[in-house]
Formats: sequence, C-alpha cells, structure tokens
Amino acid sequence: MAGTDSETAILAEGVTKSFGDVKALRGIDLAVRRGTVLGVLGPNGAGKTTAVRILTTLLRPDGGRARVDGHDVVREAAAVRRSIGLAGQSAAIQEELTGRENLEIIGRLYHLTWPQARARATELLEQFDLVDAADRAAKGFSGGMQRRLDLAASLVGNPAVLFLDEPTTGLDPRSRLSMWDVIRSLVAQGTTLLLTTQYLDEADELADEIVVIDRGLVIAAGSSEELKNRVGGDVLEFTVADQHQVAAALGAIAPLGEGEPHVEADTGRISIGVGSGGSEALVSGVRALDAAGVAARGLTLRRPSLDDVFLALTGHAAEETPEPAGRGRKRGRAPDGKASS
Ligand SMILES: Nc1ncnc2c1ncn2[C@@H]1O[C@H](COP(=O)(O)OP(=O)(O)OP(=O)(O)O)[C@@H](O)[C@H]1O
Ligand SMILES: [Mg+2]
Repeated sequence: MAGTDSETAILAEGVTKSFGDVKALRGIDLAVRRGTVLGVLGPNGAGKTTAVRILTTLLRPDGGRARVDGHDVVREAAAVRRSIGLAGQSAAIQEELTGRENLEIIGRLYHLTWPQARARATELLEQFDLVDAADRAAKGFSGGMQRRLDLAASLVGNPAVLFLDEPTTGLDPRSRLSMWDVIRSLVAQGTTLLLTTQYLDEADELADEIVVIDRGLVIAAGSSEELKNRVGGDVLEFTVADQHQVAAALGAIAPLGEGEPHVEADTGRISIGVGSGGSEALVSGVRALDAAGVAARGLTLRRPSLDDVFLALTGHAAEETPEPAGRGRKRGRAPDGKASS
C-alpha cells in the first residue's frame, strides 16, 4: 500500500475486532476519498462505534490495517490523533464548565496560547449558534446544544478528518435538521467526514457514499440512490384487514412493484417498493386493492427506511438482528420514532 495516498483520507482493510466471544468486526473494508462524506449505516450492535474507535486510535484492531490521513492507526497513532476530530456517542463535554470554557480548555490541549484558544472558542460558538449559551454551564444545555458543543469541541484543532458517531440519535426533529445544516457547512469547507447513523435518510442527506454494516460485515456499499434501488424505490405499505385476503392483496399489488413484496405474518402488513411513482403509485394501489375486493387499512407511500434496505439486502429487518445477551434494546426504526432504549 502506498505510504501517502493523498487522495484517500481513510482506508481500512480487513479490520477485525472481537470482545470475548463477540465478533464486533469480521473484516471491514472502507475507503473515503479526501473531501467526501462516508455514511456508515447499521443497526444497534452492527459494529459502527467499534470501527470508529479503531480508526480514531482509541482501540487496537485484532487484525487487518487502517490508515487515516496517510498514517497507520496502530504504528502512527499520535500522528493520526493530530489529524482527526471525533464527536462520539459519549460526549467529551465537561458538564460543570461553560460552553466557552470547554472549548478554551480543549484549545489549550492543542497547545494554543490562551488568546488563541479564546479566539477559536469565540469563532466556534458563533459558527454553532451557541453564543447565547457560551457563559452557561453545559449541564443546563438541551440535548441539541450539547451535541453542537461536542461537535464544536471536535473541531478546535481544525482536523482534516472528522468522525461523527451517530450525531443526531436522540435529537428532536428540529435539532436534527439544524445539526444537518452544521454538518453540511463543515463538508462545504472541505473536511473529510465519516459519519455513522442508523437512519437511511440521514446518510441520504449527508453522505456521498454509504456502506451498510450488519453484524460486523459490510453487506452493501454505494450511493444512496443505488441502495434505494435495491429496495425498489418508494415503499407502498398497508395492512390487510382480513388475514385470509393476504394472497389476494399480494396478487393485486405485485404488478405495481419494482421489488419483492414483504408480508409481516403476524400483523398482515404488506410493503412493496414502487419506484419513484409518487402519488400515482398510491392511487394505483387503492384501485388495485379495490378491484380485488381487498379491504386495506393505513395505505401509505413512504421513502425507504433502513429497515427496508435491510430487508432487501438480508431478508431480515434491522431490528430482528439477534442481539448478544444483555443488549436486548431496540432502537432506530425511524428518525422521529422515539428511542426505546
Ligand atoms: N467494550 C466492549 N466489550 C464487549 N463487547 C463490546 C464492547 N464494545 C462493543 N461490544 C460489542 O460489539 C458489538 C458491536 O458494538 P458497537 O458498539 O460497535 O455497535 P454499534 O453499531 O455502534 O451499535 P449502536 O448503534 O448501538 O451504537 C456489539 O455486539 C457490542 O455488544
Ligand atoms: Mg455505536
């Protein structure tokens, strides 16, 4: 491998990591071109945080190798650390300190002088819309403000490569949109970004390329369009009132679909990819079911979700991924769906 590939900011080859019996990563390959955004999409326990921790030198891989900004994450860990920023699932914010103090202290860790650290803090507080909160203790911040402060903290050292581990999980829809704006502006400035998420729409919105990981393996890679095409585009969904009519319903809607219909046996809910047909697909769906004499409830058309992508790629829903003992929580069905963990 070339020692300094100036085009590739993040490169992982066959990276493995186990925790006891749990194979968290089973040979992950990733490549992120400089100035682009990679979305790493996967459900709870897929291995996203483990991958991020390895790439940011917080964890040693068992096997394989990885380079960030041209440096090996094991042999040149210090150099990697100088090139990166990380905003993670466990925020690096000191709660008793104010927003400004948090940023100034990190500036000092980066060997800025006090005046430099103060100037950098002021700049970031403005950029992240935290000016009003600058002199309040971080523990009083809303979830969205804490995430923005955490993100600002990861940028104090002007990193060339930024890692964001689930930057919007748990945020309300408005904070989520404002976080997206902030991230987009960073990307516009040329930062290389690796972002993990459980939400297809987030990867869709922010990423140039997406890799889908499931149980420690990359199961698909491509643009969001490519992934959605594997689902069959927008998804028409409804519930058959009488379970005996499931077969009739499938027969009626199959001709409208671009993907295979999926039936949830216990609820009678049917979903099928219908391309980019828009509201016409909805009307055709109503007509086809009506003509077949099928009574359906809750007929809707929606964008594909991570679950749909999973279903199309693996034949199982993301939330059906067997969790190792002690991690029985479910999360991440939809961005506005409340986390149940
Ligand atoms: N320090 C650890 N000790 C033991 N097992 C671990 C440890 N860290 C991660 N694991 C296990 O490795 C697997 C991958 O975990 P990881 O945190 O990387 O998943 P994730 O994709 O980030 O999930 P989430 O969306 O919940 O954050 C899981 O089965 C997890 O339980
Ligand atoms: Mg994680």
